[in-house]
Amino acid sequence: MAGGALRSGRRPVRLAVLGGTGVYDPSLLAEVREERVATPYGEVTAWCGSLPATGEPVAFLPRHGARHSVPPHRVNYRANVWALKELGVERVLATAAVGSLTQEIQPGTFVVVDQFLDFTKTRPATFYDGGSGVAHVDVSEPYCPQLRGLLAAAAEELGVPVRAGGTYVCTEGPRFETPAEIRAFARLGGHVVGMTGVPEVVLARELSLCYATVATVTNYAAGISPQPLTHTEVLEVMNANLARLRALLALVLARVPRERACACGRPLEVFGA
Ligand code: HPA
Repeated sequence: MAGGALRSGRRPVRLAVLGGTGVYDPSLLAEVREERVATPYGEVTAWCGSLPATGEPVAFLPRHGARHSVPPHRVNYRANVWALKELGVERVLATAAVGSLTQEIQPGTFVVVDQFLDFTKTRPATFYDGGSGVAHVDVSEPYCPQLRGLLAAAAEELGVPVRAGGTYVCTEGPRFETPAEIRAFARLGGHVVGMTGVPEVVLARELSLCYATVATVTNYAAGISPQPLTHTEVLEVMNANLARLRALLALVLARVPRERACACGRPLEVFGA
C-alpha cells in the first residue's frame, strides 16, 4: 500500500485539499511548488505549499485537472487518492459543486455531507481489485466526524449558510439528471447531487485517510429548477461563493489538530493477500 516512505526527507504534508469544480488554483497556500507523484495508476501533479497562517504544509490537488479537463467519470480517483497518501497526507478536505434536491436547501448553502448514495456505474471503485487481497471496507461513517465538526463550526463562525449533515447522491455523469431521477433520489433520502464524491470517499477510507466534503450548492437540481441546467451556471455560482469557501478551508486547515479523534485511520481487514 501507499505512503510508506516519505519523499526525499521533506516535511510530511499531513493535510490536503482536493479541489472540485471551480476550485483549481492553490493560491490558498504560500511557497507553492509542483510535485509529480508516481502511483500504480499513473502520475499525478499536485501542488504543495504551506498555510500562510501557521506554516503547516498542505497539498492541493484539483480533481479535474488544472483546467477542468477531465470529466467526472474519467477522473483517475485511485491515482489522486494514492498520490495524497504517498505525500504523507492523513486528512483530506474535498470540495464539490452540487445540485439541491429540495427547495429548502438553497443555492449558496454549504452542505457538510455525512452519508452518500452511490449511483455511479463505470468507475474503478477500490484499490482491492484482485492481486492485493479482498477488503470489504466499512463505510458506516464515510466522512470523518472530526473534520465534519470543524467544517460546520467554522462555517457557522464565518456566518456562511451551512447545513451540518446531508446525503450526497453520486451520479455517473457527465450528463445532468432527469427530473424523474431527481424525484427518486429525493424519495430515497438524498439531499444534494453531484458526480465526483464516489468512489473518492471510499478510496480515502481504504487508505485510512480522514476525508470530509464541503459541498457548495450551485443550483436546484433538474425538475426543481425551472430552467435547463448548464455547467456555466454551476461555475458562476461556484465563483460567486469561492471567497467564502477559501476562507472556510483556510480556517479549518489552521485548526485541524494533530491527534485524530476518529476511527478513519483504523487498519483495514484484508483477506487472501
Ligand atoms: N447534478 C449533478 N452534478 C452537479 C449538479 C447537479 O445538479 N450541480 C453541480 N454539480
